[in-house]
Amino acid sequence: MKALVIYDSNYGNTKEIALKISVGLGTDSKAIPVTEFKREYLNGVTHLVVGSPILGWRPSENTNKLLDSFGSEELKDIKVTSFDTRMKIFFHGDASNKILRRLIDKGGEKLCDPKVFFVKDKEGPLFEGELERAEEWGEEISRI
Ligand SMILES: Cc1cc2nc3c(=O)[nH]c(=O)nc-3n(C[C@H](O)[C@H](O)[C@H](O)COP(=O)(O)O)c2cc1C
Repeated sequence: MKALVIYDSNYGNTKEIALKISVGLGTDSKAIPVTEFKREYLNGVTHLVVGSPILGWRPSENTNKLLDSFGSEELKDIKVTSFDTRMKIFFHGDASNKILRRLIDKGGEKLCDPKVFFVKDKEGPLFEGELERAEEWGEEISRI
């Protein structure tokens, strides 16, 4: 199992979640900002997790660019899932389901349903317990 977590983050909350997911995934895992992604980082990867804040009811621009950049079969043989960070508001929209759908479109095999994590306000902080939940989720998906 070799895992890669790719995240985008404006205020650091999605980054914190991504780092904890990566810890949970184990020693052969790393988390990188989407802006630093290079194709060769996918070499040997078995588990790919992509996370983004919800911005205007959808994934961030950088995340969409990443998803656009994958070739149609580029994620073949890679297990994929996603997460987003969002606020507890009525019209929150969605990023993680949209991301997962795109990852599957690019040949990825669905690892599990997306996960959502909550911030208290635009700039955070995260709600209590979210970092622990992120690490546990990482551990969980490392066993799939
Ligand atoms: C321009 C903008 C638009 C946002 N739109 C939404 C939204 O549609 N739904 C939502 O739940 N949160 C929304 N948020 C809150 C973000 O999801 C929140 O800032 C993000 O989870 C924080 O993650 P980060 O610290 O990694 O940037 C928005 C925030 C900004 C700055």
